[in-house]
Amino acid sequence: EEIEKGGFEHFMLKEIFEQPSVMRDVMRGRVSVEHNALHLGGIQDHLDTLRGAKRMVILACGTSWHAGLIGKYLIEEFARICVEVDYASEFRYRNPIVGPGDVVIVISQSGETADTLAALRIAKERGATVMGICNVVGSTIARETHFGMYTHAGPEIGVASTKAFTAQVVALFMIAVQLRMGNPEMSGVETSVLLQELLAVPDKAEQILRLNDDILSIAESYWDAEHVLYLGRGYNFPVALEGALKLKEISYIHAEGYPAAEMKHGPIALIDEDVPVVFIAIRDHSYRKVLSNIEEVRSRKGRVIAIATEGDREIGRIAEHVIYIPEAAAALMPLLTVIPLQLLAYHIATLRGCNVDRPRNLAKSVTVE
Ligand code: G6P
Repeated sequence: EEIEKGGFEHFMLKEIFEQPSVMRDVMRGRVSVEHNALHLGGIQDHLDTLRGAKRMVILACGTSWHAGLIGKYLIEEFARICVEVDYASEFRYRNPIVGPGDVVIVISQSGETADTLAALRIAKERGATVMGICNVVGSTIARETHFGMYTHAGPEIGVASTKAFTAQVVALFMIAVQLRMGNPEMSGVETSVLLQELLAVPDKAEQILRLNDDILSIAESYWDAEHVLYLGRGYNFPVALEGALKLKEISYIHAEGYPAAEMKHGPIALIDEDVPVVFIAIRDHSYRKVLSNIEEVRSRKGRVIAIATEGDREIGRIAEHVIYIPEAAAALMPLLTVIPLQLLAYHIATLRGCNVDRPRNLAKSVTVE
């Protein structure tokens, strides 16, 4: 086992650090900036079906559901197709409205999650086209979907998903851009910029991993928190959910993720000096609004950890701790903003003496209901 951990203390840490190379693996042979083209073997023959979809429904559980939520933002922005995201466990018991003309996308790292599998079978029975995004080759979900794409993230051992998530987001980004290419309203030049930006992400992820020691020292100030709030907007709202999930899964600290603007409809009531708030406050079109949310938290004595864009000189004045990350296209930011949150959860959990690779009560793959 020590050999498999490759010198890292835990599988989770190893898997967090593998992300730049996993992202490169997901893109390998699929992205060509030179030809301004994507080649997504598994879906190439089904592009007309995908582009012609009345709507899409993404079904998943856990971390894969968070990736699905990012997928909605991506596909709606780039392909202008309406996308719903549902928990597989809710969809399957609801007599869902789904049928011919709908494209259902199921996302599963293991390809064996019972609820996701049951939801896929219902969607198929009712005549929808079902596409899969799976990591485990030959898994049940991968076999039962009409077609799909593998994420090639390699085996993930840590129960808390990390590299499988970023691989899913890369896959969804490529799918969204591929669908966009068929849209005559979109210009080809912009597509090549998106592909270049995508190829630059792994190096930026490597840069963020170099902040590991800084993130450990931030964790040292928060390891005994009882509640932590995670806030973000747009593409980074699902990242706030994922950051909170990572923390609760492995450190057993109660954590909630929220869209930052919803703070005033509830979570703000919880804020005092004992409830740290993690803000994803990168420079995008909602930056100013997030900044004012931070100020509201500060005025209630809340302690703020901000994930911000490199070169931002303002944020350091209002946030207690800032983790600066490189800039990228807004649609690619989740691939970067999630990394410091994974590391923060990891360090807080290890400082609390938790078994991060095998957290209590959780399973890597939930194959029973
Ligand atoms: C379990 C795992 C999570 C995972 C979820 C969905 O809860 O602990 O890490 O996100 O199942 O699993 P899947 O294999 O379908 O992505």
